[in-house]
Amino acid sequence: MTDIKKGLAGVYVDYTAISKVNPETNSLLYRGYPVQELAATQPFEAVAYLLWHGGLPTDDELAALRATERAHRGLAPEVKAAIDLLPTGAHPMDEIRTAVSVIGATETAGITNVLDAVGTPAENLERSVRLFAALPAIVAYGQRRRRGLDPVEPRDDLDYSANLLWLTFGEEPDPVVVDAVNRSMILYAEHSFNASTFTARVVTSTLSDLYSAVVAAIGALKGPLHGGANEAVLHILNEIGDAANVVPWLDEALGQKRKIMGFGHRVYKRGDSRVPTMKAALDMLIAHYDRPDVAELYETLEREFVSRKGIYPNLDYPSGPAYNLIGFDVLTFTPLFVASRITGWTAHIIEQQSANALIRPLSEYNGPDERHVPGYVADA
Ligand code: CMC
Repeated sequence: MTDIKKGLAGVYVDYTAISKVNPETNSLLYRGYPVQELAATQPFEAVAYLLWHGGLPTDDELAALRATERAHRGLAPEVKAAIDLLPTGAHPMDEIRTAVSVIGATETAGITNVLDAVGTPAENLERSVRLFAALPAIVAYGQRRRRGLDPVEPRDDLDYSANLLWLTFGEEPDPVVVDAVNRSMILYAEHSFNASTFTARVVTSTLSDLYSAVVAAIGALKGPLHGGANEAVLHILNEIGDAANVVPWLDEALGQKRKIMGFGHRVYKRGDSRVPTMKAALDMLIAHYDRPDVAELYETLEREFVSRKGIYPNLDYPSGPAYNLIGFDVLTFTPLFVASRITGWTAHIIEQQSANALIRPLSEYNGPDERHVPGYVADA
């Protein structure tokens, strides 16, 4: 009998030098560096550089990346026009997927031979930096559009995370909040062959272009079993409302066999290595905004669920309430994940391209036996 690996669970499909997830030691390394060390010490731009180039940047290399990033921060008119065509009720993941598609069609206009679509690694690195630079304005535009606010212009005197906050809220960002956003961007940036990254690699393996791979990855990330979980966490926390309601809520939810969003992971079974760092950032925000009720609800649900099921929180559990405290719309949470993961996706697209093999697995057929269309007569 064929050994079917549903969901490719436990299957190694390729090598990668970008990150290492080790569930035994509960660790995550980006190019060899523990993610919690990077989150505590680096600006997100330096981690983006690390993922793309394999090493942390020198001061000059970081300055050069920042200069390019700042030069491409604006919301291009064709992207704004495309988003404006969508209903304001469109999910922002659909806005962002559309925006990347428009950027791709614009940047690759004139490439009419499909054999040239994939681009060189150098071209794809430049495209990656431009997408990385453009995404905060796209995410911010979506939130401001839903609130009936005009977009604000990017600020050249601000680093990536501070500018992202400025673009969203149009106010001078507080350093505590900038630090929390920076940490979350670093923690979300890369996670080996997760569903969206694998999707990007599948598309790249056909020699399609980087934008098509990113659009497909955004579609995969939207689902609540993957990136959509950070949005879904807020829905359940809002549903519970107060720490006093956790026990009866959980009794009912588990009785109905509901999945509790923000808990569980395909690879980590004893806890997600990114959670302690993001929980520390959440604690800073709780102190900053003086919201002990958030800590009480968070910790009560965690304690109750872990003691009943032995299933631990993943990164989306602390990042959902952190983004909520900052004032991002719940619908903006997964787009923020896109703004971060664009770095990991594009590093994988370039890596896939450098040692490509078409990704084309097999399936075991379990449909009807061969049968014939009534009245069909074979040609003589
Ligand atoms: N709530 C309740 N039960 C759960 C949960 C959960 N969050 N996670 C796993 N289980 C149970 C599941 O019902 C199953 O039980 P049984 O064997 O009795 O049927 C068992 O644990 C195994 O679960 P599975 O879904 O088959 O295992 P998986 O390895 O495919 O699960 C997962 C990984 C992330 C899909 C799952 O844990 C889940 O659905 N979690 C909630 C959604 C979520 O938080 N996703 C974010 C994942 S991490 C960040 C990211 O990638 O974006």
